Amino acid sequence: MTAPDAATAAPAPGSAGIVVLVSGSGTNLQALIDAAADPAYGVRILAVGADRAGITGLHRAAAAGIPTFVCRVQDYPDRGAWDAALADLIGVHEPALVVSAGFMKILGPAVLGRFTVVNTHPALLPAFPGAHAVRDAIAYGAKVTGCTVHVVDAGVDTGPVIAQTAVEVRDDDTEESLHERIKTVERHLLVDVVGRAAREGVTVTDRKATIP
Ligand code: GRF
Repeated sequence: MTAPDAATAAPAPGSAGIVVLVSGSGTNLQALIDAAADPAYGVRILAVGADRAGITGLHRAAAAGIPTFVCRVQDYPDRGAWDAALADLIGVHEPALVVSAGFMKILGPAVLGRFTVVNTHPALLPAFPGAHAVRDAIAYGAKVTGCTVHVVDAGVDTGPVIAQTAVEVRDDDTEESLHERIKTVERHLLVDVVGRAAREGVTVTDRKATIP
């Protein structure tokens, strides 16, 4: 893994710092990396964390000179200890916002009590929560699905919705073809919401999430 470049790791003046959590290919992370390369976006990726080593998402971060960390559940006695360790690893970077972008673990009270976390999900919540949202939408026979960026709470994909984009389900769609089309719009939605949320903050009142 490439060592962080001191020049790129230093916070840019006036930009909002974020930590991104990933578990896989990291195409959403890449969209954030690409957006953050433009100073006008006003967001700096301080670090990328993962729940497993060796994934493409970590390689994308390293290639961009972004510090990385790995926090594996199996290295801790229980989920509470893992959650506390993850909160500390994130906290080192003092982010304004934490972004769960394809991070396949449920975050616990240590992380959620300390940081505002937003997650991207490949369905129009509250439809099709959970790890198989695209497969579930096809199996149900839905004609429209999409993606949701929401504030993370203690439940599974139950937090207040910030923004959503609809995607048509085609008769000949497979899980893979539909997920690829969703991810194309998901990247744009995530970049837009993360930029605004990191720079301006997210307010939740009576389940209504707004960015001033
Ligand atoms: C995204 O569709 C995300 O919503 C879901 O998993 C996918 C992650 O893709 N939870 P990537 O790792 O960003 O390519």
